Formats: sequence, C-alpha cells, structure tokens
Amino acid sequence: MGLKRTVSIIGTGSYVPEKVLTNHDLEEMVDTNDEWIFSRTGMRERHIAADDQATSDLGAEAAKKALADAGVKAEEVDLIIVATLSPDMFFPSTACFVQEKIGAKNAFCYDLGAACSGFLFALECGKNQILAGAAKTVLVIGAEKMSAFLDWEDRTTCVLFGDGAGAVVLQSRGDEHGVMDAVMGSDGSLADLLCTPGCGSRNPASPAVLEQRMQYITMQGRDVFKHAVSRMGKSVVLALEKNQVSIDDIKCFIPHQANSRIIDAIGRRLGISDRIYLDVAKYANTSSAAIAIALDEAVNEGVIQKGDLFVMTVFGGGFTWGANVVEWCK
Ligand code: COA
Repeated sequence: MGLKRTVSIIGTGSYVPEKVLTNHDLEEMVDTNDEWIFSRTGMRERHIAADDQATSDLGAEAAKKALADAGVKAEEVDLIIVATLSPDMFFPSTACFVQEKIGAKNAFCYDLGAACSGFLFALECGKNQILAGAAKTVLVIGAEKMSAFLDWEDRTTCVLFGDGAGAVVLQSRGDEHGVMDAVMGSDGSLADLLCTPGCGSRNPASPAVLEQRMQYITMQGRDVFKHAVSRMGKSVVLALEKNQVSIDDIKCFIPHQANSRIIDAIGRRLGISDRIYLDVAKYANTSSAAIAIALDEAVNEGVIQKGDLFVMTVFGGGFTWGANVVEWCK
C-alpha cells in the first residue's frame, strides 16, 4: 500500500488597505457610537479600500505574500480559486484578474461563492483538486471589498464589515496530516436573512432597484447571530469527530471573525475560550477574507507552530457553514 497522499498549506499571506475607519469616524456618518459597536461586536476599527482598489487588487497583494512565504514562483501555480462575495465584476472571475496581476500565466482560475464561508469551501476544493491529480500547486484566496456593497446610510450593517484579503498556497509534500477533512453545510431556505437582493438576475439593475437600495447587503442580525453560534459550534464538533481528533489536542481555533459575542458564545459552549484567535477589533468582518487573514497573523505571531493542530470554522449567507482541522507543517 502506498503512502496516504496529503495536502499542506505551505505559505500564507494577507493584505488590508491603508485607510482605517474607526468607530468614532462612523459616528460622523450614521447615528451610532463607539460604545454600541464595541459592546455588541468587539469591533474598534476596519480597513477600507481606496476608490481605485478593487477586490482583485487586495487579493493579488495577499497572493504575492503567500507565494513569497511558500518560496513558490507565480508561474508554478496551476489553479487559483478566489472566494468572494464582492467580485470586481460579475464576470470575468476575480481570480482571472488576480492571475493577470501576479503573472500566474499557467493557472486555470475561478471564483467560489459561499459568502463569508467561502475561504474554507475554497480550501477544501483546492485540496481536492490536488488529491484528484488535477493540480499540483493551488493558490486559495479570500478577498473582499465589502465597502463597495454596504449601504453607508444603514447603521445596522455598515458598521459591521471591512475590506481585506488573505491567501494560502497548497501543495502535496508528504506531511503526515496537512489539511484534514472538512465538514460543510448549507441551508438555502434561509437565504433572505443575509443577502444582496438587487442587481442580479432576480432583480436586475434598474432605477427602482437602486432607489430601494437593493444593491446593498441586507441582514436580519439577530437571526444570523443565533444560527452562526449554533452552526459553527456544531461544525467544530463534527470536524473533530470526522478526523478523530480530541478537542484537547487543538492548539488554536480560528473562527469566522463576524462578531466577538458570537465567538465568545462558541468558546463557552465548547470550553475553548482560551484558545480562540480573535482579530475582529482591528478588521471587523471581512467576510471570506476573515479566517485567511487571521490564519496568516496567527502563524506570524507564533501562535501556531510546526506540528500544531488548529481548527477553522465559518458561517455566512446562504446560509453556509463549516469547519476543518489542519496540521501546521511549516
Ligand atoms: N448603532 C447604534 N444603534 C444601533 C445600531 C448601530 N450601528 N444598529 C442597530 N442599532 C439599534 C437598533 O435599531 C435597535 O434599536 P431599537 O431597540 O430602538 O429598535 C437596537 O440597536 C438593538 O438592535 P438589535 O438588532 O437588537 O441589536 P443586537 O444586540 O442584536 O446587535 C448585531 C445587532 C447586528 C450586532 C447582532 O445582531 C449581530 O452581530 N448579528 C450577527 C451579524 C453577523 O455576524 N453577520 C454576518 C454573519 S457572516
């Protein structure tokens, strides 16, 4: 019997735009205040892309750093998957724009839409392309310019999100575990609770659609909150079971950075509060970029080291959710 083939993360990178928008800045824009935002979400500030920066610009910066970290040339990449809900355009894919920007001319490229869960779903797809023999080196990117899809007059949504990108490079290097199995789920019956209703084929762009501000993200915050706590919590337990790993053996948990209260609730429920990586105060919710940025920071800060097992868990519009277990092999 041959060796079990595994796929590892061999490099990480992240990028956030220069401009910082604080809770105090938001006080000047909508009827809100720092105390409300921080006490309900744990957020202090977020980064906002410049007018001339699109999602692919953010993704390309993160990708270049991940490739440098992995010691891999752009020409060696044979698949780029960009997870995003804020693409540069409906088509071509944001992944194609990233390809052009980083010079990965030998790659095939596509976007993946799973809202805030996109990075974990894309990681699983990239891993499986390698395991299936369809690719050797895969770049997985979560990139978002959320600010382009926020209603800056709606205080219930605009304070919650930020822009940024994170990326990883995947290869099979014969490590013992690498990226282990994921559990993923979706429930389309709850799509209305978190969505951008306008300017797709359901409600094409028109003066009426724009007047109703349907081109922006809408959300039923309390319902989203409840489902996020329950789905991420259950996903972590299922992912540990699937990979036959004990919760005690996990060095670090990297949850979707949507809200510190959601994360606290999961931490208490699972008894893992002291091992959760949290950066929501600095970046707010960067959707599919969030766990990719957090992973890059956790590695750079030495929170995750060679041989450590960590768990990533996500939740997003759709609804979509999931979790996986990863062995850090660098
Ligand atoms: N500043 C000040 N007040 C605000 C506000 C803001 N930015 N946004 C809403 N409010 C007000 C509401 O209008 C409401 O006022 P009312 O009682 O007079 O009607 C009050 O604050 C409480 O609103 P509520 O929705 O009950 O607050 P909450 O405790 O549920 O917190 C969220 C709201 C959005 C922070 C919370 O529900 C949440 O985080 N949900 C999950 C969101 C999420 O993570 N989405 C992405 C998932 S990928």
